[in-house]
Formats: sequence, structure tokens, C-alpha cells
Amino acid sequence: MQAPITEQLERVFANKGDSQYGFEAVTQLEHALQAATLAEAEASTPELIAAALLHDIGHLLHDLPDDATVRGIDDRHEVLGQRFLESYFGSAVTEPVKLHVDAKRFLCATDSSYESQLSEPSRQSMKLQGGIMTPAEVEAFSAFTHHQEAVRLRRWDDLAKVVDLKTPPLTHFLEIIAAEVPISEVSE
Ligand SMILES: [Fe+2]
Repeated sequence: MQAPITEQLERVFANKGDSQYGFEAVTQLEHALQAATLAEAEASTPELIAAALLHDIGHLLHDLPDDATVRGIDDRHEVLGQRFLESYFGSAVTEPVKLHVDAKRFLCATDSSYESQLSEPSRQSMKLQGGIMTPAEVEAFSAFTHHQEAVRLRRWDDLAKVVDLKTPPLTHFLEIIAAEVPISEVSE
């Protein structure tokens, strides 16, 4: 029998949350908490707050080095994260997670002021992730049910890199998930 998902998440962050968030000056846990705090501040649905907290969980589910990107490796963390989460959560959580990398490529194609705001590591990783979207890719992306939530999440993701920012603790967001997000626990 698997532990409840909130316990599993607590363990994942306890084990690997203090790893560096790529080449940014915050840890994975700080980055996740800042993204979730921004989502909550904008009165998002509990599902989108969960997606913001968990959007990079895929980075914590593999053993590739923290500097995989500079070594030219795309860890496909958005797909790893989606696959892990979809055993427990519906598409309102998993789809923004799956699409948050493509949302960067989408925003670069559709918002002329966006690319210049990206950090250098974000710009570097985008080259590995497929570069700026073509018009056909923009159209395909726009057809996803939760693409707008993915774009909102992306903007929080880009901002969630502030050194020493005070946020609520992980337990605050896990309580929101446990109380307000529909969860299907897997039993074996
Ligand atoms: Fe992120």
C-alpha cells in the first residue's frame, strides 16, 4: 500500500528539495513554495496552486545532475512530473504541469516583451526544449483545455527565483491539497 500522496510529496521535498533549482540562486523547495505562493495570491483554484507547487517535481524524481541543462541534457521533467502526478490528480493539476515548459516556448512566440525577461538559464534550457514555437505549434498548444493555466503557471515559475523570500511552509500547501484538491489514491 502506497503512502498517501501528500506524505509522498513531503518525502520527495525532504529528500531532494534542497537541491539547487538549475542555475538559479534558490533551492527546488524555495522555488516550488514561491510559485505556489504567487498562485495563491492570485486567488487561483486549489488545483492550480497544487500545479504551481508541483510543476517541477519531475526534477526531483530522477538522478541526473543539477547542471544537466548545461551538459546538453533535457531531463523532460515536465513529462516525468505529469506521469507521477496523474496517478493521483486530475488534468486541472497535471496538464499545467505537463505544459509549463511549452508555455515558455508559447509566450516567446506570442508576447514580444516576454523573452527579454527570461533568466539566462531559462533561455539556455529553451534551446534544448525546442526553441520558440512555430505558428502551427502555437495553434496546437492553444487547443489544450488548460493551456491558459499553464501560461499563468509559467509566469509564476519565472518569478519564483527570489533569494530569501518569505513564504508559507510546505505544510500549508499540502494542507490545501489534502483538503481541497480531488485525489484518487492508488491502492495495491
Ligand atoms: Fe520551475
